[in-house]
Amino acid sequence: MAEPTISSALVRAEELRSALLVMHVFEQEREPIGFVAKVDDRLGGVVRRVLASGDFSGRKEETLVLYAPASDAPIQRVLLVGAGKREDHTMDRLRRGIGAAIRTAERLGLGELDISLGHTHHTSERVGDYHAGLAAVEAALLAAWDFRELKTEGDESAPRGRVTHVRLVAHDEANQRDFQRAVDYGTITARGANVARELQTQPGNVLTPTYLAERARELGTAVGLQVTVLDRAGIEQAGMKALLAVAQGSSEEPRFVIMEHRRGGDARPLVLIGKGVTFDAGGISIKPAERMEDMKYDMSGAAAVVGAMHAIAQLELKANVIGVIPATENLPSGTAYKPGDVIGTHLGKSVEIVNTDAEGRLILADALSYVRRYQPAAVIDAATLTGAVVIALGQHAIGLMGNDGDLMDEVQAAGLRVGERCWSLPLWDEYRPQIDSTIADIKNSGGRAAGTITAGWFLKEFVDYPWVHLDVAGTAYRDEPAPYLRKGATGVPARLFIEWVKARAEA
Ligand code: BES
Ligand code: MN
Ligand code: ZN
Repeated sequence: MAEPTISSALVRAEELRSALLVMHVFEQEREPIGFVAKVDDRLGGVVRRVLASGDFSGRKEETLVLYAPASDAPIQRVLLVGAGKREDHTMDRLRRGIGAAIRTAERLGLGELDISLGHTHHTSERVGDYHAGLAAVEAALLAAWDFRELKTEGDESAPRGRVTHVRLVAHDEANQRDFQRAVDYGTITARGANVARELQTQPGNVLTPTYLAERARELGTAVGLQVTVLDRAGIEQAGMKALLAVAQGSSEEPRFVIMEHRRGGDARPLVLIGKGVTFDAGGISIKPAERMEDMKYDMSGAAAVVGAMHAIAQLELKANVIGVIPATENLPSGTAYKPGDVIGTHLGKSVEIVNTDAEGRLILADALSYVRRYQPAAVIDAATLTGAVVIALGQHAIGLMGNDGDLMDEVQAAGLRVGERCWSLPLWDEYRPQIDSTIADIKNSGGRAAGTITAGWFLKEFVDYPWVHLDVAGTAYRDEPAPYLRKGATGVPARLFIEWVKARAEA
C-alpha cells in the first residue's frame, strides 16, 4: 500500500510538537487569529510579521515555509498555504491546498506532517468541520499515493521523499469528533480511488483480463462482496457476442466480472458498469504509435468500479449495489474482427463494424443489456470511450449523458461534491442517424462529428432503465500533475460512484 497512515488528535497549541505544521490563510488576512495566533506566540510572532508585511498574500495555492529560530524548537516549521478568498471557500480549495502541503513535505524530505484546519474551518461558514476534515484526509491520501512497485531497489532513493504519516490537529472535542469521523470515512474512500489507480497503473502485460478479474475477486471477497467471474465459456453461454467479437483478436481470454453488495433489503439494485479494455491497440483499425502506451488505461472505468465496490462494502452502505466489468484486450491479428463484419449482441441487435477501434461501446452494450435482469433502480457506466471527449472538455470534466434528467442531476451533484466534475452533452434525436447502418440494425461509429454523443447514442440503444453514461477518457489519467494528483492514473470516477451510492443509501 503506497499511501500514508492518517490520524486525528486533540492537541493544545501550547503543547504541539511538529516537524511541519500546515496552516491555511485566507486572502487579505493581515493577522493570525485563534489557533494560528497561539501557535505563532510560540514562534515569536513570525506568522504575524509575514502577514503584516503583505509578502504572503494568501492567494490560492501560494505556499511559504517558515522556520523556528531555534533548532530544538518544538514546532520546527510552519507551512502557510493560501486559501484564496474566504467567501469563495470550498472543499476543493482545501483539497488543493493539502496537495500543495504534501508536495512541500516531499520536497523537504519530511515523512510526517500535521495539518491544522482550525483557522480555516472556524472562519468559513461554507465548509464545516467534518467536510474540512474529509477534504484534508482525501487530498492527503490521494496526493501522497505513488506507484513504485516496478522500480528496482536501487531507485528507492529517488529525488522524492515519501510522506508516511499525516495528523489532523483538532483543538476542541467537537472538532476532534468530526475529524475522527472524517478520518474513518475518508480513509476508505481515498483507498477506493487508490485501489483503482493501482489497477490502472499496472501495465498491460501484467494486468490482463484474467488478472483484472482475479484482483476484483481478491479485493472484493476480502471485504465481503460476492464476486462471480464468467470465463469465455460463461460469456458464450450468456450470449455476449459483442464482447466475444472484440476479444477474438487476442490470445488473452476475456472475462466478465460481477461484484455484489447486498445490504439494501429487497430494494432494486444500483448498478455500476466499467469498461475493462486492458489494452486497446485499436484492432485492425490500428491506432498510431504515438501515446499508444496510454491505452493500458483503457480499463479505467473497470478500475473505478472495483475501487468503489471495495469502499462501498467497507462503508457498509445500506443499498444493493452490483458492479459489472466486461474485460478484454483489443488487438489486431489473423483472428481479429474486421471493418465490415456484422456481429450479434447480447440483446440481439446486429451491429455493423465500421471501425474496430470503437470497441468500448460494443463490450458495454453487452454489459448494459445483461444487467436488465436485475431490474435496476439506476445504472451508471464509466468508460474511457472517446478521444472526442478530450477535445470537447479536456482533462477537467467528465462527459455525462443519460436518459433521465433527475438521475443526471444527481450524478453531476455527486461529482461536484467530490471534485470529480461532470458536464452534460445532449443526446438529441438529431444525432441518432449518424449510427444508422444500411446492412445491420446499427453501426459502431458515427464518424468524427460529435463522437462522444454518438457513442452515447450507441449505448442508449441497449438500456431500458434510468441510466447515466460517464465518458472519462479525459479525466481517468493525466499528462500533467494536478494539485492533489500526480501525473498518471487519477482513480476517476471511483469517488463519484461512492458518493452517489452513499447519497442514494441515505435518501
Ligand atoms: N479507448 C479509446 C478512447 C480513448 C482515446 C481513450 C484517447 C483515451 C484517450 C476508444 O476505444 C477509441 O478508440 N475510440 C475511438 C472511437 C472512434 C473510432 C469512433 C476514438 O475516440 O477515436
Ligand atoms: Mn478503441
Ligand atoms: Zn478503447
